[in-house]
Amino acid sequence: MQVPFFRPLIGDAEVDEVVSTLESGWLTSGARVKTFEEKFAKAVNAPRAVAVNSGTAALHLAVEALGLKPDQGVLVPAMTFAATAEVVRYLGAIPLLVDCDPITLNMDLGDAARQLSADYTDYTDRQSRKPSEIVGIMPVHVGGMMMDIKAIRDLAAAHHLWIVEDAAHAFPAAWRTDEGKAWQRCGQMEDGERRVVCFSFYANKTITTGEGGMAVTGDEELAQRMRLMSLHGLSHDAWERYSGGSSWDYRIIAPGFKYNLTDIAAAIGIHQLARAEEMRLERERIAGNYLEAFADIEEIELPPDYPNRIHAWHLFPIRLRLERLKIDRNQFIEELRQAGVGCSVHWRPLHLHPYYQETFGWRPEDFPVATRVWERLVSLPIFPGMRAAETEYVVETVKAICKEHATSKREISIAV
Ligand SMILES: Cc1ncc(COP(=O)(O)O)c(C=O)c1O
Repeated sequence: MQVPFFRPLIGDAEVDEVVSTLESGWLTSGARVKTFEEKFAKAVNAPRAVAVNSGTAALHLAVEALGLKPDQGVLVPAMTFAATAEVVRYLGAIPLLVDCDPITLNMDLGDAARQLSADYTDYTDRQSRKPSEIVGIMPVHVGGMMMDIKAIRDLAAAHHLWIVEDAAHAFPAAWRTDEGKAWQRCGQMEDGERRVVCFSFYANKTITTGEGGMAVTGDEELAQRMRLMSLHGLSHDAWERYSGGSSWDYRIIAPGFKYNLTDIAAAIGIHQLARAEEMRLERERIAGNYLEAFADIEEIELPPDYPNRIHAWHLFPIRLRLERLKIDRNQFIEELRQAGVGCSVHWRPLHLHPYYQETFGWRPEDFPVATRVWERLVSLPIFPGMRAAETEYVVETVKAICKEHATSKREISIAV
């Protein structure tokens, strides 16, 4: 059997809407993008949403709109995808890495506080530049398990930081402070709140438009700036210019980017959005099956599931107990591959990539938790439409690899 790491679930409704779009004569950003934005904002309970052509674009527009300047510092998790930090570099600013929690893999806010009080002389010695000031924090909800938003807000308020959440994995997801309290959706915001939450609709995300993203905010001024910069910094967008809604004579207000989403992509998004909770429940069920099936397997540790979170389950990352295995993570993945099970690793942390090591002189020991945990990480397949036989096959394969390569109890005691 072959089980892919991910298979998108595209229904007839998406196909029909794309065909209607193609036949409509309007392919780029138009009415369907507007509808997608409105429906998405409603789904996350936010006043406004700006659709763009990737999650990375949403992050870039967010930090630009917040006025990030060269040499300013932004707290970014070491354990994240390239996009979170690269948008900080686009503006010549400095990502200040924060170590991760070993269980959730999310940013460790204790370490963030430590970074805020660091004097960076150590960094400066290692040829990186000292930030002129620290202005923002960019938490990532890894795998769709939300961070404690109140704790992030408290830390940000105490240090006058803006917040841009990288929620590429976290739609739909929610959190609450305590049992019995109301759920807060990922992206939920009051009108006027100056925070941006960025989602991704990349092909393997929880809902997809092939490529796409959304920036959600409570702040009208930030939304306007992001909208402006998403389309060359022009005074009004293509839909307004060509649909008769406005004059042909635009003005260039700023040197913007080309980040607008197409109506073809939005046509997919509108129907993915309608099925988002249904698809999340499927992922939740698969995660539940894995958690139960692997509960007694001593060679692996499982991702947490807390009562105060509604988990998007974009990822199911297991952590190998390497001391109980005779093989390392890479060999474990190779065994999965040979058995036909697709998997991935989220992620090699940023401080272990050549560009960041060369630019900032970061060393493995600077972020010890991320350095240790990434060598144990394997993300297993989890996607809506995954058949019961496929989940069972992944379970049996993982169990068989663990059994075959387990360190015997005697070897463990000798090692100890
Ligand atoms: C945590 C995180 N942030 C940002 C992105 C970027 O999203 P996109 O591929 O839509 O640009 C990804 C994509 O995988 C991601 O995993």
